[in-house]
Amino acid sequence: MSNAAQDPRPACVIVGAGGHGRVVLDILLAARRYRPMGFLDSNPALHGRRMDGVPILGDLSAARELRAQGIRSAVVAIGDNGVRRQFAAELEDAGFELINAVHPSANLARTVTLGRNVVIAAGALVCAHCQIGDSVILNTGCIVDHESMIGTASHVCPGAKLAGRVTVESGAFIGIGATVLQGLRIGCEAVIGAGAVVVQDVEALTTVVGVPARVLRSSPDYEEFAEMMVPPALREVLTARSR
Ligand SMILES: CC(C)(COP(=O)(O)OP(=O)(O)OC[C@H]1O[C@@H](n2cnc3c(N)ncnc32)[C@H](O)[C@@H]1OP(=O)(O)O)[C@@H](O)C(=O)NCCC(=O)NCCS
Repeated sequence: MSNAAQDPRPACVIVGAGGHGRVVLDILLAARRYRPMGFLDSNPALHGRRMDGVPILGDLSAARELRAQGIRSAVVAIGDNGVRRQFAAELEDAGFELINAVHPSANLARTVTLGRNVVIAAGALVCAHCQIGDSVILNTGCIVDHESMIGTASHVCPGAKLAGRVTVESGAFIGIGATVLQGLRIGCEAVIGAGAVVVQDVEALTTVVGVPARVLRSSPDYEEFAEMMVPPALREVLTARSR
């Protein structure tokens, strides 16, 4: 670890001291743009320990104190899409700037746009005009081909391949080694099983597996979920109209 007093790079905190946290630490050290000064993790058994030389300082409740000490930058390194999105919101609330962790061996076309709190692991390829949303993970060696859109807090696992003009909606999970053919849409919170080859659109909250991919399960809560996705103000208007 570099000496904090002599290191001019901005300090940053990593939220999540599990396996993905370890990967994100490695990315930040390789990229050399920020100085990782500590982890936060909700598991009290880890507090006071170190992982790969970096101290685990406490849980998310320590974030405000760190912010008060002048630490401005943070990244959430948690695999669960919902928790990652939630923690990102809490950190922004606490006044942190959410940074991106992009491995130097990842290859991003010049026209790619990135949100905040994005993690792009070693060897990932992201081609022309892709749009990558907030809190997305593009994991080791994945391929995201031209003009694809990857929605907030989704995860493209190691070695997964998305052909051109694929849309991945918010919170979706594309399993390790899966393939999605060109132009398809993967719905909100859908799960694509490891190694699947997706040949048609996948509905929200649906899990598909196999080659070609078939539905393993589809959430019975789809209507409830769709309702939840309507902003409260609009819901009031729609309810008033239906009376
Ligand atoms: C798709 C997945 C989420 C399903 O998990 P699950 O709900 O626990 O499903 P189960 O293990 O109960 O399996 C249910 C059935 O689907 C089959 N199945 C599960 N995953 C499969 C896959 N990836 N491909 C083909 N069939 C699969 C099982 O063999 C089982 O079949 P059966 O009913 O005929 O016995 C999971 O298997 C998967 O592929 N996860 C992705 C893991 C990954 O990519 N990790 C990388 C993290 S970085």
